[in-house]
Amino acid sequence: MLSSQRHLFDMPRDVCFFNAAAWSPLPIGAVEVGREGAARKSRPWEVPVGFDQQQFERARGAAAGLINASVDDIALISSVGYGVCTAAKIFDVPKGSRVLLLDSDHSSPVLEWMTRAADGGFDVATVQVGADYDWTSAILEEINRKDQPPVALASISSVHWSDGGLIDLVEVQSALRACGAGLLVDATHAAGVMSLDVTQLDPDFVIFPTYKWLLGPYGRAFIYVAKRHQGGVPLEQTSYGRKRVSSVADHYFADLDYVESARRFDMGERDFFVSLDVAAYSIELMHSWGIAPVQARMKMLTTRIADGLTERGVNVTLLDECFRAPHLLSLGFPAGMPDGLAETLAEHNVYAAPRLGRLRLSPHVYNDEADCDRLVEVLQAVLR
Ligand SMILES: Cc1ncc(COP(=O)(O)O)c(C=O)c1O
Repeated sequence: MLSSQRHLFDMPRDVCFFNAAAWSPLPIGAVEVGREGAARKSRPWEVPVGFDQQQFERARGAAAGLINASVDDIALISSVGYGVCTAAKIFDVPKGSRVLLLDSDHSSPVLEWMTRAADGGFDVATVQVGADYDWTSAILEEINRKDQPPVALASISSVHWSDGGLIDLVEVQSALRACGAGLLVDATHAAGVMSLDVTQLDPDFVIFPTYKWLLGPYGRAFIYVAKRHQGGVPLEQTSYGRKRVSSVADHYFADLDYVESARRFDMGERDFFVSLDVAAYSIELMHSWGIAPVQARMKMLTTRIADGLTERGVNVTLLDECFRAPHLLSLGFPAGMPDGLAETLAEHNVYAAPRLGRLRLSPHVYNDEADCDRLVEVLQAVLR
C-alpha cells in the first residue's frame, strides 16, 4: 500500500478533503510545472522547435499507460463530453436499436445520445439499479431483455459517480459482445485508480479527464479509440489531423487525407502547454506510485470510514463492499440528507460532495487515518 503523500500537496493539517471525485488539488510539483508553462508562453521565441510534438506525445503516452493502450490509439481532447461527441460522430447506431445508459449517470456519457436519439431513430434505455446497488446485474438484465430492441451500444461509467457503485466491465463487455453491441466507457472515476486493460477488454471507446483522480488540470482529457473506429471523421477539422496541411510549406492543403491513428481526433488548440504539461506531470506521478498501491491506500481509507461510521452507529447507509468502488464511499440517509450538510461539514474543514441525495466521500493519496477519524467524528456530531 502507498504511504500518505500529503507532503506533496499544499494541504494544511486541519483540512479533511474528501472530494477528489469532484476535483482534486494539484500536487505542489504540478503547480510549479504550470508556472513554467505559463512563463514559456511569455517568451515564445525561447521554445525549442519540436517541443510541442514532444509534449503531445509525452501526455499521450502517460495517458495510454493508464489503460495499457498504444499511444497510437489515444487522442488529446478537452473533456469527457468532447470524447462522447467524437464517439457519437463515428459510431453508427442503427435505426430501431437501443443505446444503454445508467440511471442518473453523469451528463457527459448520457446527453449526447439522448440528443441524437430522435433524429437517429434509436431509443435510449436507462438501466435502473435495485436497492442492492448491483449495477452489473442490472445492466446484464437490460442487455438481455428479449422484449426490447437490440442494444447497439452501452455508454456507461465504470464507477457510478453519485453512489460509487462498481460496474464489472468484463461481464458487461462479454454480454454486449454476445449481441454484437459496442462499449463506450466513461472511465472518469477509474483511470489511474482502477486497472483497466484495453488489450483485454477491447472496448470501443474509453474516455477520462485529468482534473479528478489524476490530480491534473481542467481542460485536459483523453479518448481511447479502438483501431476499428480510427477511420472515422473527427469532431473538429484540424491541420494536424490531416497528412499534409502545413503552414510553412508553399502549398498549404497538400494532402487532405486524415492521419492514420487516433491522433486525427486530437482537439483544436491542443498546444496549450500550461495544462498539457501539468496533465503529463500529474499522470506520470500517478504512474510512479502504481495503480494497485494507490488503490490499496484508498480502500484502506474508505474501509476505515465505513467501519468508524458503523461502530459509532451513525445513521447512514452504505453500499455493500462487493458492489462499491474501493475509492468512493457514498452515504445514504434513511430520512433524507439534512439540508446544507456539505456546508456544515465545510465549517469544520471537512469537504465532501452532496450528490443526488447522497454524501459522496472520495479520498486520495494525501488523506490519512487522522482525516478519516476526524471525518467520522464530525459526521457523528453533525448528524446527531
Ligand atoms: C462520470 C463523470 N463523467 C464525466 C465527468 C466530467 O465530464 P466533462 O469532462 O465532460 O466535464 C464527471 C464529472 O463529475 C463525471 O463524474
